[in-house]
Amino acid sequence: MLCTKCLCLRRRQGNEVRWIVFGLCHGGNFRHLQLHPGYKQRSQYSRRLYVETRPPPNNPPKLGPTPQRPRWDCDNSGMHNLPRLPCFLNGDYTVLPEAKVSVMDRGFIFGDGVYEVVPVYAGRPFHFAQHMARLDRSLAATRITQPHTHAQWLEIATNLIAAYAESTCTKAENTDQLVYIQITRGVALRDHVMPQNIRPTVFAMSNAMKPPSAAQRAQGVACVSANDFRWEKAHIKSTSLLGAVFARQISFDADATETVMFRDGFLSEAAASNVWMVRNGTLMGPPKDHLVLEGVRYGLIEDICREAGIPFELRRIARDEVLQADELLLSSATKEVLPITTLDGQPVGRGLGKGRPGPIYKALWDGYQRAKAQ
Ligand SMILES: Cc1ncc(COP(=O)(O)O)c(C=O)c1O
Repeated sequence: MLCTKCLCLRRRQGNEVRWIVFGLCHGGNFRHLQLHPGYKQRSQYSRRLYVETRPPPNNPPKLGPTPQRPRWDCDNSGMHNLPRLPCFLNGDYTVLPEAKVSVMDRGFIFGDGVYEVVPVYAGRPFHFAQHMARLDRSLAATRITQPHTHAQWLEIATNLIAAYAESTCTKAENTDQLVYIQITRGVALRDHVMPQNIRPTVFAMSNAMKPPSAAQRAQGVACVSANDFRWEKAHIKSTSLLGAVFARQISFDADATETVMFRDGFLSEAAASNVWMVRNGTLMGPPKDHLVLEGVRYGLIEDICREAGIPFELRRIARDEVLQADELLLSSATKEVLPITTLDGQPVGRGLGKGRPGPIYKALWDGYQRAKAQ
């Protein structure tokens, strides 16, 4: 059978489905093959042969409505061989395929750990001290011992940034990266009770930053809304992220960038971003309480507002107010600040600026770029 999109030939052999590529529309990168339902990996033996390693599932898991069309833009699809990216595990520098932790690690068994994601611009960690302060807060809240001083963490991050740059044959100062840090409670036999005196498992890696595209910056992004069904300790940057995974998948399935969540009718945050509202020239965000993760951008955005003379307020924000906002914004380490221009398919804003990035976004974006350059 020929695929109508790319004219690949489909052959079923027992439990396997093989795609023979004729190279007509893939532009050399083969990603189009992810259009094929059930596509799992490229054959290691031939650039022209792709093999589905198991038959397409009869009942795929559902979070909401099943996407109506195939998705091919997920970077993780088909990632079966880890790249040899540098990483740090329990005091040693190694590469991802070599880094191994015990199956009895409580991070694996319970998601019992915390993490940080630090943006790096031109080889320099951005607002590192604030990320370290939040890491300390997450560790204290989960009663996990901080295994390193902030100076040691900076040294580890600096080494990983240099190693990543070297692995791509670039100088660190020519790279923007994301340093990921994770500390789990450690290894113990399975028991919910927090074991005492075990050594935390420490992992860190760095990778290229993937910022929003120029089109997303220029046009803003689409978001959908959902009830906030996560737990009530959202202020901890915990590796127990199934709620966030479910939340993000809702927007992914709807071809949107983020899921804006409401708890009891009030704005909380998005799956992996904070959410901001502009009304009559004032920038507003939800209070820093246990229902949201206090993004490192909370403090930064407040500073930028002060410098730009933009009134800044943290308070509970009702869903109706969000639906009538002049502007809506996302913020996170990778998104920096990013305008939401449609929510649940409705354009955000009023008048001529409706559905377009607004003036407060532009002022915040400019301020953010100045902060990065300092
Ligand atoms: C749930 C949640 N809220 C907010 C943020 C934004 O935090 P930051 O600005 O520190 O990246 C994140 C970042 O990952 C997040 O996961």
